[in-house]
Amino acid sequence: MLELQQLSLHIGQQPLVRNLDLQLQPGQLHVLIGPNGTGKTSLLRALFGELTPQAGSIRHGGETLSRLQLARWRRRFGYMPQNIQLELDLSVLEVVVLGRLDSLGMRLSDDDILAALGALQALGIAQLADRPMYSLSGGQRQMVLFAQVLLRDPQIMLLDEPVSALDLQHQMQLMEHLHRQTRAKGWISLVVLHDLNLAAQYADQLIVLAGGELQAFGPPAEVLTPELISRLYRVPVDILHDRDGSPFIRTLRPESLPA
Ligand SMILES: Nc1ncnc2c1ncn2[C@@H]1O[C@H](COP(=O)(O)OP(=O)(O)OP(=O)(O)O)[C@@H](O)[C@H]1O
Ligand SMILES: [Mg+2]
Repeated sequence: MLELQQLSLHIGQQPLVRNLDLQLQPGQLHVLIGPNGTGKTSLLRALFGELTPQAGSIRHGGETLSRLQLARWRRRFGYMPQNIQLELDLSVLEVVVLGRLDSLGMRLSDDDILAALGALQALGIAQLADRPMYSLSGGQRQMVLFAQVLLRDPQIMLLDEPVSALDLQHQMQLMEHLHRQTRAKGWISLVVLHDLNLAAQYADQLIVLAGGELQAFGPPAEVLTPELISRLYRVPVDILHDRDGSPFIRTLRPESLPA
């Protein structure tokens, strides 16, 4: 379990998140939603040890972040940040293999290369293996970076808007893969998404952050109400249900509302 207790984050003098209590369980896909600028990225950075909390604790597997060497703490994470500038003169295969950096000796083993090729294949992008990273489109880069975190085979997956540049097919491929592997490997997965319908389809637990506080935590069908969404995003919505009962959110344009 990844446990946050009374966690508070500041950016400079500004309070960002206050007294956050959360428990994230292995084998569960948690989706973090909330308006722009509410601290989702900052929270992931704090979990990864890039941002020091003002107060509170972060624990995993009987260990506490503040008491541990950072390198040792980070070894358990696969972290895909939100804004990645990668103008590297490395091939896709090399970038994916770097996911194994912690365990790489001086040389690559055949096993590392095969694992990297396997990850690219599983995501349907094996044809990119020899391309230089700088030559890829935004969406292709995002898929490659996902393959890289897969190769870490982490205990905790932190993905910050991993589908923001992906087309429908690749969004689905990434989310399906993440969902299956989270179950199969017992990962604690925490993913930031802005697409509420994708969140509703894939989240075991939705975590709603706004105004520095936890607004809701639970299965999408319980959490996603028109009231909550209007309060968070200040837009009118209808909630329909698709054939497996997942909520489906539709924004309402002003002219469709009664005067
Ligand atoms: N390095 C920084 N210096 C100053 N302010 C920062 C810094 N990083 C974040 N902030 C501020 O902290 C707040 C939260 O930012 P954060 O990136 O965590 O939001 P977010 O919820 O991830 O937003 P988005 O949905 O737009 O990605 C914002 O107001 C942002 O301007
Ligand atoms: Mg963000």
